[in-house]
Amino acid sequence: MIVTIDGPAGAGKSSIARQVADELGFEFLDTGAMYRAITLGAIRRQIEFDDIDGLIQYARLARLRWEECRVYLDDVDVTDDIRTPTVTAAIGRIADIAEIRSLLSMQQRKIAEGRDIVTEGRDQGSEVFPDAECKIFLTASPTERAIRRHQQLAEAGRHMAIEDVVAAQKRRDFEDENRPVGALRAADDAILLHSDGMSPDEVLRRAIEIIRATT
Ligand code: C5P
Repeated sequence: MIVTIDGPAGAGKSSIARQVADELGFEFLDTGAMYRAITLGAIRRQIEFDDIDGLIQYARLARLRWEECRVYLDDVDVTDDIRTPTVTAAIGRIADIAEIRSLLSMQQRKIAEGRDIVTEGRDQGSEVFPDAECKIFLTASPTERAIRRHQQLAEAGRHMAIEDVVAAQKRRDFEDENRPVGALRAADDAILLHSDGMSPDEVLRRAIEIIRATT
C-alpha cells in the first residue's frame, strides 16, 4: 500500500510522514533527500549547473541508499550535508531537469514496489504514484510555515531574520509551483490537510484518520 504526502516547504511533511510510517509499520521515503543528494554531489564534483548533460550523466551514475534514517551517496553518509543552505539554494537547478526527475521517479517506484510505504515530496500523488491508495496534501499558510521554520532554525542554533526566512520560502514556493515538470500540486484525488493552528500531534492524528478512512 502506498500513502503519498505532498506539500510545500515547511509544512512539516517529513516529520509527519516519518511518524505516520512508524505508527502504521510502513517504510518511509523522503524524496526531497534524493534531489538534495544529487545537488550536493553535483556541487562536490563541480559540475556547472548550466551543464545539463553533465548533470544528467552524473545523476545516472550516482548511487543513493538509505540505512536507518541515514542517506548515503556513493557510500558516503550525507544526511547532514544535504540540508545546508547552499544545497537548498541550488536544488531547483536539479529538480527542474525533466530527465533527472524521470530517473528519480523511476527509482522511487522501484523502492516502493511490493512495499507498504509512506512517500513524501512534491509530486508523489500527482505524478509518481497516480494510483496510490491514499494521497494527502499537507499545507499551512506561508506565515505559519515561516514562523515554524524560524523556530526550528533557532532551536538548531542557527539564527536567521524572519524576513529572510519568508523571502527564501517565497522563492522556493515559486520554484516548486512553477517547475515545467513535476511542479508542486495536489493530485485531484488528494485530501487536503491544512495544519494552521494544529499541534504536530493533532496533525499526526488527522493524517492517520485520513489514511484509515481511505483504506
Ligand atoms: O522536501 P525538501 O524540502 O527536502 O525538498 C527539497 C527540494 O527538492 C524541493 O524544494 C524541490 O525543489 C525538490 N523536490 C522535488 N520533488 C520532490 C521532492 C523534492 O522537486 N518529490
